[in-house]
Amino acid sequence: MKYVAEKITFFKKNLLDCIVIPIFEKYKLSKITKKINIISNNYILDILKKNNIKGKINQNIILYQIPNFSFKKVIIIGCGIKEKINRITNKLIINNVINILKKYKIKEVIWYLTDIKINDCKLYWNIRDTINIIENNIYVFNKFKNNSSCFSSKIIFNINNNSDIYEVAINHAKAINLGIKKAKNIANLPPNICTPEYLSIKSLTLAKKYKNISIKIIDKNIMKKIGMNAYLAVSKGSKNKPFISILEYQNNDKLQPIILLGKGVTFDSGGISLKPSKNMEEMKYDMCGAAAVYGTIYAIAELKLPLNIIAIIAGCENMPSNNAYRPSDIIKTMSGITVEITNTDAEGRLILCDVLTYIKKYNPKYVIDIATLTGACVIALGNNISGLMSNNKKLSNNLIKSSLESDDRVWELPIDDKSYYDQLKSNFANLVNSSNGIAGAITAACFLSKFTKKYKWAHIDIAGTAWYYLNQKAISSGRPINMLCQFLINETLNYENK
Ligand code: BES
Ligand code: MG
Ligand code: ZN
Repeated sequence: MKYVAEKITFFKKNLLDCIVIPIFEKYKLSKITKKINIISNNYILDILKKNNIKGKINQNIILYQIPNFSFKKVIIIGCGIKEKINRITNKLIINNVINILKKYKIKEVIWYLTDIKINDCKLYWNIRDTINIIENNIYVFNKFKNNSSCFSSKIIFNINNNSDIYEVAINHAKAINLGIKKAKNIANLPPNICTPEYLSIKSLTLAKKYKNISIKIIDKNIMKKIGMNAYLAVSKGSKNKPFISILEYQNNDKLQPIILLGKGVTFDSGGISLKPSKNMEEMKYDMCGAAAVYGTIYAIAELKLPLNIIAIIAGCENMPSNNAYRPSDIIKTMSGITVEITNTDAEGRLILCDVLTYIKKYNPKYVIDIATLTGACVIALGNNISGLMSNNKKLSNNLIKSSLESDDRVWELPIDDKSYYDQLKSNFANLVNSSNGIAGAITAACFLSKFTKKYKWAHIDIAGTAWYYLNQKAISSGRPINMLCQFLINETLNYENK
């Protein structure tokens, strides 16, 4: 889709194709709708009344060739009670419009809906939300279909305010949604194509595209040399070799780097602790943390943020085989901490713990890992809110702030109670990798926290939010890229304010 903003003066005869304008409940007209109603001699209200379109959400009508008006089509869209429109109802309204644009294959539209005041939502966010919703609506993954098409159109936002806001919001939303789309396109791939090696090749291509991104790849041999035994243990059962890609985005050498680390398990069968076959196909999404990190660094490079960011894609596959690691194995992690494997399906924390140890040398300002880590997080928070756990209040507060702003929600869970750590005790090693089942999202984070003592760290569990169901089938959501990008945008503001 194309997005631009213009100050619309449609009385000059510019003959555009389509305009979308709001109507509120009980035939309440907005400023623009009133204007068009007047120049058309009450044509709009007459037709709305004839068709009993009072302005409820999901009521709408398309009018063709209105008297004295230069547009070919006018979409009048029901927006409900004017004072009650919020971010949730706005989403319904926008999706209704896009479904009409798709149905009639409309190629260009003047958009008046960002003129509506949304409760608790500034114009900047209204524009960003609008573009997010549109991009999510039109996204299709048709790489493996030979008869499907995608929809594209040009959206022209009417400028009725400070035009700088439109420009900034559109630029931010475009870059972020490009990142989201790139991430979805990787996440939706099947695991026979999207292997750990594939993730590293995508990372190499990204590093080539932007001159301020450099890359380092850690392959199996290097992992052996530096003692990443937990990472290697998980990958042992698969013929697909593990790869870690370290993408360094350097656009401010005065600042300590912020590290984003993504779990990239390209398929999680559970290993010897095999998962049940029901929904096992969804475990191709166990690399969504890595995809989110990839999409975020993509967006940041587009936005040219003046920061120093290291994005790490931790690629691995968890499979059962005669060479696989097993329950009761004891492994010495890179940090020296030993781990008794009690469940080979708790593999995410094992690959992450070695990377968390490795990255100490970068002297990071913050480390944020993003992982589809636990089914327990889905039980705790469901499918719309990601879990957040952290060893630093300022970091978690900043993440919460950006999650509220971007409406890409997280909820913080505690990791500071001794009882959780008691569950990680082993009779034979320093830790077990999986405990008895209560507070599973938290104990997984507590395991990770044993490896993050040297820096400020947050963990985002996206097991419930990384994909959603469209027509009853799973599809990647691209979350939490919006929130991560917002966190990083806010970091640049904090820096400037100092
Ligand atoms: N990748 C899974 C977590 C997961 C489950 C993500 C469902 C999304 C949906 C992770 O590797 C896993 O298997 N975790 C286990 C941990 C347990 C063995 C302690 C789980 O949640 O069951
Ligand atoms: Mg698992
Ligand atoms: Zn997993």
